[in-house]
Amino acid sequence: MTDIKVELSHIKGFISENQLDTYKKKVADTFKTIYSRTGAGNDFLGWVNLPSSITADFIKDVKAKAEELRKKSEVFVVVGIGGSYLGARAVIEALSNHFAQMVETGSPKIIYAGHNMSEDYMNDLIKLLDKKDYSMTVISKSGTTTEPAVAFRILKNHIEKKYGKEEARTRIVAITDKAKGALKVLSDSEGYKTYVVPDDVGGRYSVLTPVGLLPIAVAGVDIEKLVKGAQLMEKYCLDNQNENNEAAKYAVARQALYHAGKTNEILVNYEPRLCYFSEWWKQLYGESEGKDGKGIFPASVTFTTDLHSMGQYIQEGLRNLMETVISVENPANEVRIPTDDANLDQMNYIAGRRLNEVNQTAEKATILAHVDGGVPNIRIAVPRIDANVLGQLIYFFEIGCALSGYMLEVNPFNQPGVEAYKKNMFALLGKPGFEELRSKLEKR
Ligand code: PA5
Repeated sequence: MTDIKVELSHIKGFISENQLDTYKKKVADTFKTIYSRTGAGNDFLGWVNLPSSITADFIKDVKAKAEELRKKSEVFVVVGIGGSYLGARAVIEALSNHFAQMVETGSPKIIYAGHNMSEDYMNDLIKLLDKKDYSMTVISKSGTTTEPAVAFRILKNHIEKKYGKEEARTRIVAITDKAKGALKVLSDSEGYKTYVVPDDVGGRYSVLTPVGLLPIAVAGVDIEKLVKGAQLMEKYCLDNQNENNEAAKYAVARQALYHAGKTNEILVNYEPRLCYFSEWWKQLYGESEGKDGKGIFPASVTFTTDLHSMGQYIQEGLRNLMETVISVENPANEVRIPTDDANLDQMNYIAGRRLNEVNQTAEKATILAHVDGGVPNIRIAVPRIDANVLGQLIYFFEIGCALSGYMLEVNPFNQPGVEAYKKNMFALLGKPGFEELRSKLEKR
């Protein structure tokens, strides 16, 4: 059985059983479309049985490379953008000490590059790397994405100057397509250790390939446990291709709510370590569903923090919102609120209680307030955050996204809209082949 439970009691006042039934009826056929790989974008369904296809030898190889890099690195730089870094960052931040960058954890500090074009960011990074022993991975499935290509060009130059070409070679791992793209050509000519992103796995579904697994292993996370969690969820989904499947319940609820006018979904967490998990989720759902003039707009908040910034809008703003809460039942540690004799802050009424009790009470109070304010709530309960549960959550959200996307009648595995800005940027930067577009854009 899975550790993930979807609770839908707080969507009831917003949609009828009939509205839910419309989508429940589609579940079995949609599962069939996914697992038989007969739907739109089916050449990108490699992630569906990715967990069960990961071999012990592959894990051993990734762990060995990660160990080698860990030994010689105070800092490990992950160069990539979108699906080529968000999955790794989601898992690493969810499983790391909140202050990992400031305390000794026994693992290299993981930092990121190639996910923005900021000159100041790069300048600060270079200054930092001047003083640290480091290694890096450059991740790009297409091997042609501008942001990581530019960042890698700069960092390659830096690492070669710092260590010399030979040593630099041992500190760089490339993760890219098996045959095509500039990064593949470069890696072959430089002789970097290279891992392959499978052809049939798109960027946002690639966290369980080397794209995610190598950086996650360098961060000191047990990737075997992560993969086991995903395998468990894969098997659960294969065995339960029906409307009672937890991922199907999630997909059905969000599609029914969307068609009832709840066009924006806010993913809520009460654990700041899940912030980047929300970033990963936003890409997964936004890029998969937002097309053909349709799709739920994915947003995220961390509570209780954002109750003091976004809370007002959620409670009383435009009523096109639904919330999905990832509710973590047990934190890994215990902190109790002390008694204070003076009680000037008037907090003695909760003295002796665990912070988690207050956090969970805030969650319950907020769900009820938001439901009363017109925001339906989907609650996804997990017992704890660890590598196994995260592995389950990854596959849960991936399959939920595929089900939901197919129910919406879009291709959840392409992203044609991402190209528009790229073409404009190439044209405006003067890339050969874009002259006509450039002259059109310059007139605007
Ligand atoms: O999900 C996707 O396909 C995208 O977000 C890509 O991951 C992102 O654009 C980076 O692409 P690439 O890995 O080809 O550099």
